[in-house]
Amino acid sequence: MRLAVLASGYGSNLQAIIDAVGNGKIKGRVEIVISDNADAYALERAGRHDIAAVHIDPRRFSDREDYDRAILTLLQGKNIGLVVLAGYMRLLSPVLVEGFRGKIMNIHPSLLPSFPGLDGVQQAIDYGVKVSGCTVHFVDEGLDTGPIILQEAVPVYDHDTADSLQERIHEVEHRLYPRAIQLFIAGKLNLEGRRCFQNEA
Ligand code: GAR
Repeated sequence: MRLAVLASGYGSNLQAIIDAVGNGKIKGRVEIVISDNADAYALERAGRHDIAAVHIDPRRFSDREDYDRAILTLLQGKNIGLVVLAGYMRLLSPVLVEGFRGKIMNIHPSLLPSFPGLDGVQQAIDYGVKVSGCTVHFVDEGLDTGPIILQEAVPVYDHDTADSLQERIHEVEHRLYPRAIQLFIAGKLNLEGRRCFQNEA
């Protein structure tokens, strides 16, 4: 299966996905990495692995729909089977969600539905929860509201800062995201309403 990864920043989840393709844990390949940020380190990671790395500047488009239409056209031209958001900091418009309905995944650094949106890690610290974690989910039109595929808890310690908690969450994300992607590729994810089950297909 051909994967597209959308990333705005550092790209450690992208790296985990590339590594999982390399060692056979993901039976697919990353065809293209797209970023809204010219300076995203994720683009450099892609280049280093001979993956097409494309920056699309949102400022060149009149609105969110127009921008997403350009991405949609690019993805359709490459016969992409799954779109993976990895630290992609833009809300998708219905144009893209509709075009790849049920074929877009996101990872978020909290146990959704707690702390959606920006700064999920800082939100958890500020709220004072003792347990946070990360969530892999399908993307719908809402902000981090789509059906949940996998979740894993991460403890929050008294001495934690957003950075130290983010670091522990990253470790879990790098394991969880490749697993969710391979479950999708293997056809093992079944949706009933907003509940997502793993079957033995
Ligand atoms: C990850 O922790 C991911 O969960 C989060 O951004 C980080 C990106 O790290 N995503 C969001 O907050 C989306 N709302 P990375 O660039 O090293 O993969």
